[in-house]
Amino acid sequence: MSAPLICPSILASDFARLGEEVRAIEAAGADWVHVDVMDGHFVPNLTIGPDVVKALRPHSSLPFDVHLMTAPVDNWLEAYREAGADILSIHPESGPHTHRTLGRIRQLGAKAGLVLNPATPVAILEEVVEAVDVVLIMSVNPGYGGQKFIDASTRKIERVRAILDRVGSPAHLQVDGGVTVDTIGACVSAGADALVAGTAVFKGGPGAYAPNIAALKAAGSRAA
Ligand code: DX5
Ligand code: ZN
Repeated sequence: MSAPLICPSILASDFARLGEEVRAIEAAGADWVHVDVMDGHFVPNLTIGPDVVKALRPHSSLPFDVHLMTAPVDNWLEAYREAGADILSIHPESGPHTHRTLGRIRQLGAKAGLVLNPATPVAILEEVVEAVDVVLIMSVNPGYGGQKFIDASTRKIERVRAILDRVGSPAHLQVDGGVTVDTIGACVSAGADALVAGTAVFKGGPGAYAPNIAALKAAGSRAA
């Protein structure tokens, strides 16, 4: 089976050199650039605004995978799309009308992602499965990089994979949080095809990005 997609989270990069960091991960074999947007309200951290995404856009031709951790979220969709987001992923807890929000993302010409927190029931996916291009399963509680993978997430990945397969959905199944060479295998075996990794990609500095990504792909491929 083919290697899983690796989506480095630039939350773990050197913010003083963001443009170079994005160029470096593309050269190192990354598939998507994962951008964690935090508002200091929905999650207890404050990160990347649309102007930063816009400034980074010319530095890479990879898809920009923007994970929106803001509440409300609807008022930000257009700004991040205009800034260059290709995928916009939203948490159902961040607004009252999840189906409408997903539809709006597609209307803007982006791919729509639904994010499930560790405590968010999988059942919500059944109601909106036709409206999603990506299901993002959080394997940590959102807010910070460098947290430990929650082992119960693998069972959740299996349950989401079963729903997508049953309805014949081509949506990507992405996992985010604590993904390393030690945890990626269980994620892929359970049915994930796209993995976000912050610490595991950026540790060791620019010279290590290519071997870090290659090691994740190899460990994921072995499990596929
Ligand atoms: C957590 C973010 C993740 C995080 C991943 O709120 O959504 O993308 O940065 O970082 P690692 O891979 O270090 O857990
Ligand atoms: Zn994320």
